[in-house]
Amino acid sequence: MIPRIFSWLAGFALVMIFLVVISPDLFRGYVFSSDDRSNGQRVYETYCIGCHGPDGLGNGPASEFLNPLPRNFVDGDYKFFHFGEAPPLPSDESLEITIRNGLPGSSMPAFPLITDQELKDVIAYVKSFRAGGWVEPKPIQAGDQPIQLQGETGEELFVSAGCVGCHQFDPTGATGGVGPSLTQVGSRLSADEIHQSIVDPNAVIAEECPAGPCPPGVMPQNYSDRLTDEQINTLSTYLSEQK
Ligand code: HEC
Ligand code: HEC
Repeated sequence: MIPRIFSWLAGFALVMIFLVVISPDLFRGYVFSSDDRSNGQRVYETYCIGCHGPDGLGNGPASEFLNPLPRNFVDGDYKFFHFGEAPPLPSDESLEITIRNGLPGSSMPAFPLITDQELKDVIAYVKSFRAGGWVEPKPIQAGDQPIQLQGETGEELFVSAGCVGCHQFDPTGATGGVGPSLTQVGSRLSADEIHQSIVDPNAVIAEECPAGPCPPGVMPQNYSDRLTDEQINTLSTYLSEQK
């Protein structure tokens, strides 16, 4: 009789240990498929662990030589929000841009060659480190009314419209590495062509971006809702003068 109870208890304990080991995410309040986790973990252990550390604390073996330090994914602050989403946590789309293109000015490398699936999986894995679980950010368009962007001069608009996050542009000190550098954009595009790039970014896709061929559909598609015609004209004219 007694041994039987013991073996039952031992079995129960083993199952609990097994659960904690294979799916710690259940215990962090974040549920996602075990496939995402194991594939994401594999990508992470191949490319990211040396800097971001086995537990996502930003303390991998390479980190002691790095400044800025690799992001701590457990409780660290995220800094890059490419689609104007509300901090503290970025959207998957922003994370994709950060990981594909790297972060200029830091040791965070670009990963242009991992597959879309690997990227999706590693993002799920990175999110699973978050203490307290991950809360999806609110999209910038709260309600029906897109938020209007402020600014009068071309330079002000370039900053307030977030162009700085994705484009290098020396007059404002912007070092964005997602789209082409716009420092001398006036020597290759007219004001009309720049205007079109802003209101209808997919009409013509630029060829060369800092991390390889330019990705279509990454530049925000709704600037014509968020900037007035006058602001767009001011910005296009200003950029066409940068030669
Ligand atoms: C050589 C070191 C290194 C490697 C390898 C590396 N990172 Fe990073 N990563 C960094 C550093 C440094 C930062 C912080 C940059 C900063 O604060 O400007 C960072 C920041 C980040 C951020 C935070 C972005 C934000 O909005 O704050 C994410 C997400 C990220 N890395 C994901 C990854 C993933 C996924 C991999 C593997 C595919 C990876 N990193 C590989 C060094 C690295
Ligand atoms: C989320 C990232 C992102 C933001 C924000 C962004 N862009 Fe872009 N931009 C891109 C990418 C990627 C391309 C290349 C693909 C394409 O042509 O659409 C591009 C292309 C362009 C081009 C064409 C460049 C060339 O060499 O042909 C212009 C001009 C441009 N952007 C202006 C702007 C302006 C002005 C803003 C702010 C109002 C802005 N972009 C905001 C990512 C961005």
